[in-house]
Amino acid sequence: MCGIFGCICKDGNVAKLIHEALKRLEYRGYDSVGEATVFGGKIYVKKEQGKIDEVHKLLNLDDLPGSVGIGHTRWATHGAPRRENAHPHLDCDENIAVVHNGIIENFAELKVELEELGHVFKSKTDTEVIPHLIEENLKHGLPFIDAVREALKRLEGSYALAIITTVEPDKIICARKESPLILGVGRDSMYCASDIPAFLPLTNKAVILDDYEIAILQHDKYEIRRLENWEQILREPETITWTPEMAKKQGYPHFMLKEIHEQPIALRNALRLQDLYLDLMATFLDRAKNVFLVACGSSYHACLAASYMFSKLAYLPTYPIIASEFIEQTGMAVNIDSTILAVSQSGETADTLAAVEYARNRAATILGLTNVVGSTLTRVSRVYVVQQSGPEIGVAATKTFTAQLIVLAQLALRVAKLRGKISSQEIKRIERELKNIPNMVEETIRRNEEKAKQIAEKYKDSKVFLFLGRGISVATALEGRLKLMEISYVPAVAFPAGESKHGPISLVEPGIPAIFICPRDETHKTIIGNIMEMKARGASIISVIEEGDEEIKQLSDDYFEVPGKISEVFSPITFVIPLQLFAYYMAVKKGYNPDMPRNLAKSVTVK
Ligand code: AGP
Repeated sequence: MCGIFGCICKDGNVAKLIHEALKRLEYRGYDSVGEATVFGGKIYVKKEQGKIDEVHKLLNLDDLPGSVGIGHTRWATHGAPRRENAHPHLDCDENIAVVHNGIIENFAELKVELEELGHVFKSKTDTEVIPHLIEENLKHGLPFIDAVREALKRLEGSYALAIITTVEPDKIICARKESPLILGVGRDSMYCASDIPAFLPLTNKAVILDDYEIAILQHDKYEIRRLENWEQILREPETITWTPEMAKKQGYPHFMLKEIHEQPIALRNALRLQDLYLDLMATFLDRAKNVFLVACGSSYHACLAASYMFSKLAYLPTYPIIASEFIEQTGMAVNIDSTILAVSQSGETADTLAAVEYARNRAATILGLTNVVGSTLTRVSRVYVVQQSGPEIGVAATKTFTAQLIVLAQLALRVAKLRGKISSQEIKRIERELKNIPNMVEETIRRNEEKAKQIAEKYKDSKVFLFLGRGISVATALEGRLKLMEISYVPAVAFPAGESKHGPISLVEPGIPAIFICPRDETHKTIIGNIMEMKARGASIISVIEEGDEEIKQLSDDYFEVPGKISEVFSPITFVIPLQLFAYYMAVKKGYNPDMPRNLAKSVTVK
């Protein structure tokens, strides 16, 4: 949830580098920020509550001495967003500074033990036990690195850590368990970070740390060791193909709008994935006795849509499940004949990884779909596919959602082929249609951006929104709702239109905006009936329709038009676009920053 960064250079001050890197990690959490450097036998710290720009104005985060330092941008889990709870956290004698992403589950008992030994705590955080544990081990005469190692062995929970000390001022010690941590190998400099964009302008040479690994960084080298047996791990850097530019706004006011406009490219990339892995995944899906599609948030909505694709194209029943409910809802039914397709753009979502871990322990086969090379999901999957959407910085998923859909569509098509459920002509037709979807998305954005601004302006004072769809459009409705809620903070409900008579229609009163997603598919006729029911009770009808759908256009107060004809099973890819734009412009009209919605963060690495 938080972003950590560490930097060690041959010479010169690193504070400015750390400040800039934290800016590139701010989407991971932004309720407080801090930096620490070690210089002349002393640790220097600057930290405060608030966004990075605000704190920089107050404290000047570029002004700390020394060529070794660490930094942190926070998403509070333990201890309110206040200065004393901001990272870095220090030991009693201020010789050790620690930044942490994750949760130390047994911190309370460790804190009691350390307080009984005389340690004084300044914060309400779980993290602060770490520098005090190391300090206690130093008091027992352990060399610094052993003091860190013994401290880590006492921690339960998840962590990505970067540690500096006056005891060994030319080093940064970092360690990882469950939370992501990547090393950046520069010329005469080394970096560690929660995410690749943090050091991308400095180097594209990255080394992914695994769980239970410690790395000792010096300006010209790095050493990786396994926590339990101290075995040395030799791991060469990988070259990252993302350019720093890809992680910048490129003239757009927000990353979210840039990423909405990047969807045609992301979709084309997702159509160029390696056949080998898609076929392998299709084979596992075809052979499985039961298939669970497991994810959270937008990725779950992609799984829900995929369950319609697998059923309609391949006659394969699949069970889309929200990851945080997986174990409770279906855990006992998971066994060696089960296949889990876990979908996560970050590849680090704790709820999804916990479901995967549970299933793995029951001998199920794990397949993974993610956007991040080297993420945890890639390392716990039997087969995985990286969807190649490039870095997504905006907290609200857009390009990664539509790219997930087109990858899942290709998987469904391959399972259909394997099962002989589809003729070779139909396969060719569908492949042509998939190839054309990026162009349709391009045209949909061009046609609806202005419209989205106008409709957002018209309904900006609405107190609630309804989102309705039938069939696969239920997934589109849920995703449209999530986008609007998460960045414009307007309450919204989404449900299958067929459910409205069983309760939700009671919400309708004159002027309530009801957004209907209406591709021209088998559900078209029935959804017209649902529109009429709502209209009769005074709802303002906003519809997302196929180009030239006069019937629903007549019934609508406002509408978005999606150009061209699209098969029902692919319709969420184009029909969600106007809803992304609508949510974006609603947030902007309300004066909110769509990139950094309150209380949220890009990668949810705690359960
Ligand atoms: C979507 O806009 C949100 N950022 C959030 O719901 C997200 O989809 C969810 O946290 C899952 O993230 P993942 O795809 O990285 O696992």
